[in-house]
Amino acid sequence: MNDKVAKSFNEQIQAEFYSAYMYYAMSLYCEGKNLKGIASWLKKQYEEEREHAMRLIGHVQDRGQTVTLMAIEQPQAEYASILEVFEKSLAHEKYVTKRIHDMYALAVKEKDYAAQNHLQWFIDEQVEEEASFTEIVETLKLIGDSPIGLFQLNAQLGKRE
Ligand code: FEO
Repeated sequence: MNDKVAKSFNEQIQAEFYSAYMYYAMSLYCEGKNLKGIASWLKKQYEEEREHAMRLIGHVQDRGQTVTLMAIEQPQAEYASILEVFEKSLAHEKYVTKRIHDMYALAVKEKDYAAQNHLQWFIDEQVEEEASFTEIVETLKLIGDSPIGLFQLNAQLGKRE
């Protein structure tokens, strides 16, 4: 792995840890609103993002490069609504997708076939991430101001394994 590709991996490790931190902050916000099911869903997302970071770290290490952990920005703590939480999440996932695509383009340019192969998993994962957040955003729009709808979504999201 050359230095340019290693730099892109290190920056993505930071972005994945930021994602984890952001979802944890969102989980705490929902917990504060007594929406424990949604809070639990977001905490699972936090765990998944940490796993994404670990997956990237493992690849950098396997390729004999150095992992450099960077500072993580403070995430937003307060939101106007649950819809805002999930709209911001979806926008964030779209941003992450673009980053992964840029990394892949760099790996192609640098003829790093192993990195391309590793990143393929992330490309597929981002399709799933965007789909699941889009579904929740659309459900929240349907729910509107209905407390019963939010109560049901809270129960449903609380079942995430
Ligand atoms: Fe690690 Fe949600 O992408």
